[in-house]
Amino acid sequence: MKTSRLNRKLITCAVVVTFLLQLSFVAGADFPRGLHLSWQNDPATTMTLMWRSEPGAEGVVEYGRDLDYTHSVESEPHSYRFGRTDIYWHTAEITGLEPNTTYNYRVKTSEPWVSEDYTFKTGIPKGDDTPFRVAVITDSHGHVENQRAVLQMIKEEDVDFILGLGDFTDTGNQAEWDLWFTAIEGLLSEIPLLSVHGNHEGNQKTYWEQFAYPGEERWFSLDYGNTHLVFLMAASEPLAMEQRPWIIDDLEQNDSRWTIALGHIPAYSAGLNHGSSPYLIDLWGSVFDEYDVDLYLAGHNHIYERSLPVRAGNVDSEGVVYMTHGPVGDKLYSVSPDWWTAAADEGFSMYTIYDIDASQIAGTAKRLDDGSVVDEFVLEH
Ligand SMILES: [Fe+2]
Ligand SMILES: [Fe+2]
Repeated sequence: MKTSRLNRKLITCAVVVTFLLQLSFVAGADFPRGLHLSWQNDPATTMTLMWRSEPGAEGVVEYGRDLDYTHSVESEPHSYRFGRTDIYWHTAEITGLEPNTTYNYRVKTSEPWVSEDYTFKTGIPKGDDTPFRVAVITDSHGHVENQRAVLQMIKEEDVDFILGLGDFTDTGNQAEWDLWFTAIEGLLSEIPLLSVHGNHEGNQKTYWEQFAYPGEERWFSLDYGNTHLVFLMAASEPLAMEQRPWIIDDLEQNDSRWTIALGHIPAYSAGLNHGSSPYLIDLWGSVFDEYDVDLYLAGHNHIYERSLPVRAGNVDSEGVVYMTHGPVGDKLYSVSPDWWTAAADEGFSMYTIYDIDASQIAGTAKRLDDGSVVDEFVLEH
């Protein structure tokens, strides 16, 4: 009898200990979640961090040139409701940083939740010709295995930041984003991502609330070293029309060596499921011609295509090169080369690396499955 009672007590004790251990593991692993980097202001001197916590928690970023974490900045939390769930995010912007410099950091959100130790690197100052490397990804469509795999490959490529061209998710609902933010754990916490909105994000708060970008976020520009980057929302003709005066004004003030515009939807593209967009050619192409835009980067068509330089509807060595990047995900469509096509391919998941310096932009498009090169090209002034 005594033995039986003792056994019951031991079993109860073991169950409680196991439960507590599980609880501490869950708590330790659970927050902060979805930690990712971007820029809202000058990439050379600032860094923006976002992470998720339980509702009501406070947050702080500790950072410095080593693991002593000599500086800190508090986060600004915000929340939104999706279905019956309150989604609670922190945004913290660090300012006054040294350009082109690596910092250590960790985030804390209501003890005992502390992130791992991470690093980030600030950008190159505007007008500085120091070479840099950027990766372009698009259209993962909720394929989180490929999303994680491509980010791991990109990390190996030692890129300075990542440009996303939209359609990260298929539906834009919170459950899909939760899986996406799990897939990027530990990767986008060290490489900043700047993206444009894709039609599959659905113009929902799940996109706008979970990323922090400059200005009012729908369209914005920023300078990284010698390159002016213009992020646009290409989903419809009314939106393209609304942005046209803003693009003209932005490019009027631009004096960078290179100018790259980005939008989810291609202007010229020989994709068979989705092709060119005449409204973008009319409304934006003419502006790109006038202000000597070097590249327009797009996704959406789920094929790979690089155009010849095009100006005013003709092949022209002074023209804009229109890129259609293939998907990270596995929705694969077909392409049939047209008069503007310089290179085209189909049937694989992929990413593209751009190396930018004072004399050239060198592009390398690669397959996700084996890293083999699909296309290599060089743009020179
Ligand atoms: Fe897509
Ligand atoms: Fe799309």
